[in-house]
Amino acid sequence: MSSGARLLVLGKQGAGKGTQAVRIAGHYGVPHISTGDIFRAAAADGTPFGLRANEFMTRGELVPDDVVIGVVAERLAKDDAVNDGFVLDGFPRTKVQAEELQRLLGPGGLDAAVDIDVPTEVVIERISGRRVCATCGTPYHVSSPPESNWTCDKDGGEVVQREDDTPEAVTKRLELYEEATRPLLDFYEGLGLLVTVDGVGDPDEVFDRVLDGIETARQVQTR
Ligand code: AP5
Ligand code: MG
Ligand code: ZN
Repeated sequence: MSSGARLLVLGKQGAGKGTQAVRIAGHYGVPHISTGDIFRAAAADGTPFGLRANEFMTRGELVPDDVVIGVVAERLAKDDAVNDGFVLDGFPRTKVQAEELQRLLGPGGLDAAVDIDVPTEVVIERISGRRVCATCGTPYHVSSPPESNWTCDKDGGEVVQREDDTPEAVTKRLELYEEATRPLLDFYEGLGLLVTVDGVGDPDEVFDRVLDGIETARQVQTR
């Protein structure tokens, strides 16, 4: 395990952000911070905040920027993220969020923004077969289920279909990606931080490409 990294993962719904972010976090020994997982956990706990976020999520809409930014700022201020770094999954998703993150981290505060590039037909197939751990959010697929009886390999949690993986919500989510999130590729390209990785292929193969991309970006920056 190499230690420390400050990274974020971009990509369409179903591109494999969660799948790769878990591996990246393990490799660099940093926390995996998924805004979607944070909101789903809060919804499952039934907190007023979680229930409000869940209304946006089940419709496939974005949770308002100020709410998301507050959650991320709080999480990034914890010791593990301050000392070791982080891999952000699903944040930022709008220009306002990206700009706020730059302000929060300051110049040189990110090593790379990894875009996992996957065609829309492929993400639709992936999402329709996706199942996730209700406890920790680890993604599985009907074609690669957990080892035993739809319980999570990591923590034994129940593995279920996500509420926002309906055809209507998925269509809405993909539209919002094009409108609000795709422009961030240019934003990070402009900062010299964008690493684009072909996300089609076996998850381990994709992970090798992701690591290559991150390491190349880090070398360029230390030069
Ligand atoms: P979030 O939970 O982030 O969902 P998302 O962006 O829609 O992305 P997904 O989790 O659907 O896809 P993924 O890229 O992680 O793919 P995965 O690895 O699971 O956000 C949910 C909602 O929360 C949003 O809609 C919004 O309402 C709210 N929200 C969150 N963040 C927000 C923000 N910043 N601002 C505002 N609102 C926010 O993979 C998908 C499937 O494919 C899995 O089944 C997996 O096993 C499989 N798979 C993965 N890789 C491969 C591969 N290489 N080959 C074959 N299958 C693969
Ligand atoms: Mg995800
Ligand atoms: Zn789990």
